[in-house]
Amino acid sequence: MTIPVSFPELPDFPWDSLAAETATARSHPDGVVDLSVGTPVDPVPEIVASALQEAWNSPGYPQTWGTPQLRTAAVDALGRRFGVDGLIPDAVLPTIGSKELVAWLPTLLGLRSGDVVAIPDLAYPTYEVGAMLAGATTVRVADDEPLPAGARLVWLNSPSNPTGRVLGVEALAARVAEARALGAVVASDECYLGLPGPGSEPVSVLDPRVHGGSLESLLAVHSLSKTSQLAGYRAAFVAGDPTLVAGLLAVRKHAGMIVPRPVQEAMTAALSDDAHVAETRQRYDARRAVLRPALEKVGLRVDHSEAGLYLWATAGKPCRETLGWLAELGILVAPGEFYGPAGSEHVRVALTASDERIEAAATRCASRL
Ligand SMILES: Cc1ncc(COP(=O)(O)O)c(C=O)c1O
Repeated sequence: MTIPVSFPELPDFPWDSLAAETATARSHPDGVVDLSVGTPVDPVPEIVASALQEAWNSPGYPQTWGTPQLRTAAVDALGRRFGVDGLIPDAVLPTIGSKELVAWLPTLLGLRSGDVVAIPDLAYPTYEVGAMLAGATTVRVADDEPLPAGARLVWLNSPSNPTGRVLGVEALAARVAEARALGAVVASDECYLGLPGPGSEPVSVLDPRVHGGSLESLLAVHSLSKTSQLAGYRAAFVAGDPTLVAGLLAVRKHAGMIVPRPVQEAMTAALSDDAHVAETRQRYDARRAVLRPALEKVGLRVDHSEAGLYLWATAGKPCRETLGWLAELGILVAPGEFYGPAGSEHVRVALTASDERIEAAATRCASRL
């Protein structure tokens, strides 16, 4: 008997297509340098781990909304770290990592077939997945192209995954004004905002210079995965327009989208401390300073890549060729085509490996000079 269910049609999971290159890179005698996925390898900050441990005895259901302490810590952190102003603790909502929110936001906002979601032309794949789950249509938009008429939701992502590109105050403010004129919600994925490179100044959509004094129609999505090494905890939050956040809270309460209480305590500790974020930033700056020139010397051009966790590199050839060439050196990276057709000649090189592995990658590149 065929069971009559029809799961949503989604793209093939792209990482499965890297099996051959992964095998090649893993066979390197000095071991693989895996720079294909942006997963942190440095330890969880001690103050954060202790907060999690102290909250182990949490038998009751946690609040979907998060504790008041967590929401206040989020508002304070955004103020201290990014100059965010005018945000109230009521307009903060913890999420089970940010991928979960990215995947479900169109559905939670009530978007459906015929609705348009605008995403960057080179984008984190889950924006498109989220539109598909809601049955909506995705339109890719380059930074210098106008938003599509009828857009209901506009995703922004600065610093960008995969390109590391930063949108300045003017560019962000222009996008916000354009989206507001269309009546669209702006969701700004600020996963990498806490990791500016030297000389770059990423800004939040909740910065008053961007929003012009009103948070109306704006949501900022913040993940603690990369800035606090908490990818394994699933720790993120969304904040912004109080009416939108209240609407999301109402649906998420019904749907059981709740962050575990020990994780809420860990998030509160992480958001109350800036020292570990500064350390994280220094680590990635040092890794960028080793890897970028090594890739450039061996003939790759590195575009953008001024902030965040990735180097966006091209040899001016199809990305799979560059991927294969690097795999021969035991270095595994992600093909740019994962992020959109405009990435067909680039590879994305993550800085998320130990200093020793990053040095090994640089040495292997130098051996080809
Ligand atoms: C742009 C962007 N948004 C969201 C996420 C999801 O992060 P998490 O679910 O760990 O918060 C990632 C992860 O790599 C990302 O690159």
